[in-house]
Amino acid sequence: MDKDEISKSYDRLLQGNKGWAKQKLKENPDYFKNLTKGQNPQYLWIGCSDSRVPANEITNTQSGEIFVHRNIANVVVHTDMNLLSVLYYAVEVLRVKHVIVCGHYGCGGVLSALENKDQGFVNNWLRNIKEVYNKHSEELDSITNQVEKANRLVELNVVEQVHNLAKTMIVQKAWKRSELQVHGWVYGFEDGLIKDLNVSYCDIENVEPIFRYDL
Ligand code: CO
Repeated sequence: MDKDEISKSYDRLLQGNKGWAKQKLKENPDYFKNLTKGQNPQYLWIGCSDSRVPANEITNTQSGEIFVHRNIANVVVHTDMNLLSVLYYAVEVLRVKHVIVCGHYGCGGVLSALENKDQGFVNNWLRNIKEVYNKHSEELDSITNQVEKANRLVELNVVEQVHNLAKTMIVQKAWKRSELQVHGWVYGFEDGLIKDLNVSYCDIENVEPIFRYDL
């Protein structure tokens, strides 16, 4: 890409925005006026940064419906101030009803974690997924097909991140108020469909006793 092309690829976004805003106003003259009133989303989405997994688009929802946090391979790390702030705000202030961890097959982060290559700074982040592998190594080592192995790690990673959510005081407090469900999904590019991993929780029963807080 030369300098001109790079500038063009940048301008494209601003032009796209103008077209989009015009279209929205055509559909509903109050569209932006309504957005200025505030947000009342029912869902917090914890997804992968991958450009192919836009939360609103794949769930056919609109601006204002989903509060979103994304990072490489949709990981819930209990020392991640960014994620915890988003989670706290979504649950305590916005009072979302669902937190959804959504992974996706063919996740570059998960595939990289399966390798032993030095990925530079990202090594530190991928370490979280390697820990998931290690925890489920018996099952994963028994899968000889590499694609199937990666797909299963994608699923197990989501399940583990749902558990990590359940271990937070933020989620446990909301459960005490009977106000929140957490879910694990995996999205597939092949058919565009979301697979529900059926790891939805709405109480502390599935949390190991050592991780339960007296609330
Ligand atoms: Co990914």
